[in-house]
Amino acid sequence: MHLRYLLSFCYILISGLASAQKPVQESTGFYQFLSDDPNQKAFFSDRKGVVAKNGIVASAHPEASKVGIAILKAGGNAVDAAVAVQYALAVVHPSAGNLGGGGFLVLRDKSGKSFSIDFREKAPAKSHADMYLDKDKNVIPDASTLGRLASGVPGSVAGMAEAHAKYGKLPWKQLLQPAIDLAMNGVIQTQREARALNAVKKDVVRLNPGTKYFLNPTGKDWAEGDLLIQKDLGKVLKRIQKKGRDGFYKGKIARRIVKDMNANGEGIISKKDLADYNAQWRETISETYKGYKIITMAPPSSGGIALVQLMRLTEPYPLRKWGWHSDSTVQVMIEAERRVYADRAKFLGDPDFVKVPQETLMSKDYLAKRWTDFDWNKASDSKNISGGAVPGYESLETTHFSVVDKEGNAVSLTTTLNGGYGSRVVIKGGGFFMNNEMDDFSIKAGAPNMYGLIGNKANAIAPGKRMLSSMTPTIVEKDGTLFMVVGTPGGSTIITAVYQTILNVLEHGMSMQQSVNALKFHHQWLPDMTTFEANAFSAGTIKKLQDKGFKLEQQRNTIGRMDCILVLPDGTLEGGSDPRGDDTSIGY
Ligand code: GLY
Repeated sequence: MHLRYLLSFCYILISGLASAQKPVQESTGFYQFLSDDPNQKAFFSDRKGVVAKNGIVASAHPEASKVGIAILKAGGNAVDAAVAVQYALAVVHPSAGNLGGGGFLVLRDKSGKSFSIDFREKAPAKSHADMYLDKDKNVIPDASTLGRLASGVPGSVAGMAEAHAKYGKLPWKQLLQPAIDLAMNGVIQTQREARALNAVKKDVVRLNPGTKYFLNPTGKDWAEGDLLIQKDLGKVLKRIQKKGRDGFYKGKIARRIVKDMNANGEGIISKKDLADYNAQWRETISETYKGYKIITMAPPSSGGIALVQLMRLTEPYPLRKWGWHSDSTVQVMIEAERRVYADRAKFLGDPDFVKVPQETLMSKDYLAKRWTDFDWNKASDSKNISGGAVPGYESLETTHFSVVDKEGNAVSLTTTLNGGYGSRVVIKGGGFFMNNEMDDFSIKAGAPNMYGLIGNKANAIAPGKRMLSSMTPTIVEKDGTLFMVVGTPGGSTIITAVYQTILNVLEHGMSMQQSVNALKFHHQWLPDMTTFEANAFSAGTIKKLQDKGFKLEQQRNTIGRMDCILVLPDGTLEGGSDPRGDDTSIGY
């Protein structure tokens, strides 16, 4: 026997025995990693999950997770902790944490009822469908991504005020204080945060002439260990602490936003846009998958519908038997993703403006029909797949966090400025970045946005409308009890990363942290390409898929920055935070 085959054979045997004899710590039982390729890996890192009894906060930054856990320990519930973490992230993780952005919160309370708040940005009243097109109807480069015209009306402050008013236990004032302290006293830069600030410096200087915001006072680049003090942001937070949502949407801060946004006639957000902004309670999507209930976000996020579609499309296939990242498993997952993203482009938009055929898209009959053109022997061609018949690469700068408290209330919250540091405009006298969320609209039918996503009329710009999102904050229930809290940043890859993270636990028996660590892949219909993290597929899987015509590309970037929580069989909690970032789970 050729040495290579002999080695591979031994490897299979050893990995098989190792996983059979020594289940990986915290595994729920049946996970096995069998590969014919010594270069293939299952995990980005071997980080272990955090196990705790009373509560866990899993977020993108250790300081934000510390804030959340302190609130839980002080008697706050998961909503209190979420509000405090949201504000803390605006200080410690300014590329995605925000006051000038928006997001979605999914809550499952201790009694099992679920709720969601849509605090997605809205198009300003002066917006219109062609606002990013030149006179020849061509897309004006960067107009929807950089500078003052790129921003929607922010929703985060209104969203937190709504959540707190209905579910908060601790005083609002107490929830804002940790963020104020972090802004006023400074936050020590991690290597990642310092590097990200250095990378955005050129745009910040160009778009905010004369600014000192986010520049190192020493004049040097930021380095790990430097202290970022944000006094103006601290003062804005104090106003919000004192006046609630009106501290942001009315009065001094609102005037500053309007003045800055309209500098040189660039932006269009008005005082009325701000005063009129409302966060919206929406019914969650609550759908079953095998014995589980998937509780997730309805439109204007596409995430919930797409996630349920993906899970139901692959439900008939024996993924567990085929194994994690085997060619058959990957093939059906890619083909499901291709069809779901085609539907996303055709049907989804703000339900306050367009009729979204939500029930049909998630129905088993409809989904069965979506498989009729599936051929095991060859890859489908995205050109031939369009949204069904119903009667990019992106920057990872959204952020997600998960909280479970000791009573069993759970919050899954994803929030964003869209691209890293949003429009790169920092409000003068406010010290916070504004979003560039307008790019999530379909600015021209068929033209890809910054994530390569295509859209259509359903997601065209209109005044007061919310742009379609991919954010997928999700909670999974098993036998009527809380089971898992999941979410991630990653633009268009959010949906597929959440899908894989859930399947890794439900089908492949991984622990929460293993599932977060697990290498991931992504397909979004167009471009017709499956991207995958380094070494996520074996040489055998790659060859079999390529032989069928699948286009595959190993990417340099990682996929997902998950922050998730799993309820273990004994009722304790396992936090899984992504080693791809500064993400940290803290429990008590
Ligand atoms: N801005 C990314 C998203 O909402 O999908």
